[in-house]
Amino acid sequence: MEKLTGLKKIKTAVFISGIGSNLKNIIKFSKIKQSPISINLIVSNTHLAKGLKYADQFKIKKKIFNFKNHKETEKNISILLKKEKIKFICLAGYMKILSKKLIKRFDGKIINIHPSLLPKYKGLNTHSRAIKNKDKLTGCTVHYVTAKLDSGKIILQKKIKISARDNPTSLAKKVLKQEHKLYPAAIMKIFN
Ligand code: GRF
Repeated sequence: MEKLTGLKKIKTAVFISGIGSNLKNIIKFSKIKQSPISINLIVSNTHLAKGLKYADQFKIKKKIFNFKNHKETEKNISILLKKEKIKFICLAGYMKILSKKLIKRFDGKIINIHPSLLPKYKGLNTHSRAIKNKDKLTGCTVHYVTAKLDSGKIILQKKIKISARDNPTSLAKKVLKQEHKLYPAAIMKIFN
């Protein structure tokens, strides 16, 4: 990944579908002097994403795409990214699969956070799967996005203990807290 030159931050889009706690955290991180990125665009596949409120709160451009025609929508996303001169993409709870074309265009410049110790538990319901399997450890992973779901090169990972009292909700809360530390750390690792 290219090194930062001067004070110019890398124009970044965050893609969300839900609560947006990672989005909020990344926006806050982007505002510190040492951050290599600025958040210039928030993309969602649904107007129900609660995290969209952060676009208004932090005065960041937002765009909601309804995926009635998947191919057409991906094309429109691509056009928007070009128009906004976006050079880096952070997926944060985004529930759509990106097209191969978009992934190729942003090769090595799209990252995602996943609530498990990848390669374990790709996909959904990671916490209930870990508990059901009586795992002692879980965690979160920031990785590059490739055409294969949750399979790109790992950038950073954090291990978290599962206690006997944990249920999927308590575990999700515990993991999310660590996600908020891991995502900025992974971005710093990429660009420094
Ligand atoms: C996080 O657990 C993230 O790892 C997963 O989706 C969740 C998003 O949470 N991909 P939030 O919307 O950032 O609060």
